Amino acid sequence: MSSNPRIDTTVPHSARVWNFLLGGKDNYPVDRQAGEKVFTTFPGMVDMARHSRHMLIRVVRYLAGEAGIRQFLDIGTGLPTMDNTHEVAQRIAPDARIVYVDNDPLVLVHARALLTSSSEGATDYIEADVRDPDAILAHATRTLDLTRPVALMLMGILGLVDDYDLARSIVKQLMAALPEGSYLAIYDGTDTDPAYMEAIRAYNAGSGAVSYTPRSPADIARYFEGMEVVEPGVLPVTQWRPESTPWGEAPEVACVGGVARKGPSRA
Ligand SMILES: C[S@@+](CC[C@H](N)C(=O)[O-])C[C@H]1O[C@@H](n2cnc3c(N)ncnc32)[C@H](O)[C@@H]1O
Repeated sequence: MSSNPRIDTTVPHSARVWNFLLGGKDNYPVDRQAGEKVFTTFPGMVDMARHSRHMLIRVVRYLAGEAGIRQFLDIGTGLPTMDNTHEVAQRIAPDARIVYVDNDPLVLVHARALLTSSSEGATDYIEADVRDPDAILAHATRTLDLTRPVALMLMGILGLVDDYDLARSIVKQLMAALPEGSYLAIYDGTDTDPAYMEAIRAYNAGSGAVSYTPRSPADIARYFEGMEVVEPGVLPVTQWRPESTPWGEAPEVACVGGVARKGPSRA
């Protein structure tokens, strides 16, 4: 049991289930039960979680490196793990500034202790709901200069907003507050694998956790509408700028993502 009354250990929470799927220890029996139920129906879930997380790392490396981004707004941070956004970004650019946002109080407890910045850069943590972009943006200005480019990261979180129109309007509202030259990075589960869909259906019906809604690849691609999508496009996370490994090509997973730039096209 947690000694923090705001941490409910009787129902699974997506951050803790995700932590369990990634092999972490910051979860409770109820989260492990929910996670185990998912991968009993869909053994590919662990691979999918790891490949998604690896895509996040490659995305941050691209943004801090090639794209030259120095400010990150990472909403739906998750529990601290290996290679958190600020660690990847500050390895390339020590002066990078990162604001983390999550609505799980356990994430806040760990983030305060572990998501600490390099001396040249900054990290901040906001406990807020992605459905409240105004509050997030108001608070983010304590650390980020919103007149300069920011990378907005919504990795594995929009499926937790069950209304697609609302999810799209959240993306639009957040991007509208950022200047040209900013970036949007998203990945989310897709409705393309029947075994994954069945596992998610059972998770949503039985666990008491906030439901997850996998979407079609086309719906995920539509989040980037009006923006300049970075090569190689919006596609399965394992195919987004993959790095060669001794184990060959990673399998395709039911999770699609991409990165796009706000602003006029650069010829
Ligand atoms: C699947 S995890 C993804 C974590 C991380 N972005 C990654 O890619 O590994 C989803 C995260 O979103 C957070 N989350 C879920 N619903 C949220 C909401 N309405 N507002 C803010 N954060 C939320 C969860 O607590 C969890 O940490």
